[in-house]
Amino acid sequence: MNIIVASTPGEASEYVAKRILNIIDATPAPVLGLATGGTPKGVYQMLRDERAKEGRDFSHLTTFNLDEYVGLDPAHAQSYRYYMNTHLFDHINIPSPQIHFLDGRASDLARECLTYDKAIENAGGIDFQLLGIGHNGHIGFNEPSGTLQFKTHVTTLDEATIEANARFFDASSQVPSQAITMGVEPIMHAEEIVLMAFGEDKADIVDALLNTPTLDPQLPASILRLHRNVTIILDKAAANVYQNRQSEEGIQ
Ligand code: F6R
Repeated sequence: MNIIVASTPGEASEYVAKRILNIIDATPAPVLGLATGGTPKGVYQMLRDERAKEGRDFSHLTTFNLDEYVGLDPAHAQSYRYYMNTHLFDHINIPSPQIHFLDGRASDLARECLTYDKAIENAGGIDFQLLGIGHNGHIGFNEPSGTLQFKTHVTTLDEATIEANARFFDASSQVPSQAITMGVEPIMHAEEIVLMAFGEDKADIVDALLNTPTLDPQLPASILRLHRNVTIILDKAAANVYQNRQSEEGIQ
């Protein structure tokens, strides 16, 4: 895994935005896997700026979002569709048929999952997958469990995830208890993966990810250790525990 420690979240976001722009320039029909949450907001802002200030063309892109809450209306301010529209898609020029979301209100969620996996396959898989990481080590909403699921599936959110995401809702009781998420297969089949983590509250899980000696479904992000082209990009605060450990081990 490549590990990059940036001074600030802004510097890390700039690195990731530039990487995405390079892919957009170099690939005739790039397929991006995208995450929501607090972490990628800076990247999306930079992509928006590229459109607004430089007139950058995004019309050849296809995107797949990682996950969506079950039961939230797409117009709900905390749905991931709403998040992506607000933070990115309303401001750049990807034709809407090329933008893919999971529908958490689908009447047949099992079919919704199958259809999503098929659509990713038909698009030729993901070229570049952007990830955040949960405090519990989740990627997408692949939560800690005895097993990791390959395919897109419905999942029950961990207490830790509900607590972490309560900050976006009025109360934790309003956070949906279930979500649909891409499984680990389309993520691991991506040509390139970038996982971003910022802030001291991510420092322990980042250290656990970078030091785990085992492939551990209780730490779903540990599967990324098997991928050949993963970059973990951190700010100083998120890298702190890992870097302290490195220097202690260097001293011993
Ligand atoms: C969001 C997602 C999640 C988040 C993770 C970190 O689409 O898939 O795995 O990336 O929960 O969230 P933030 O960035 O809010 O700390």
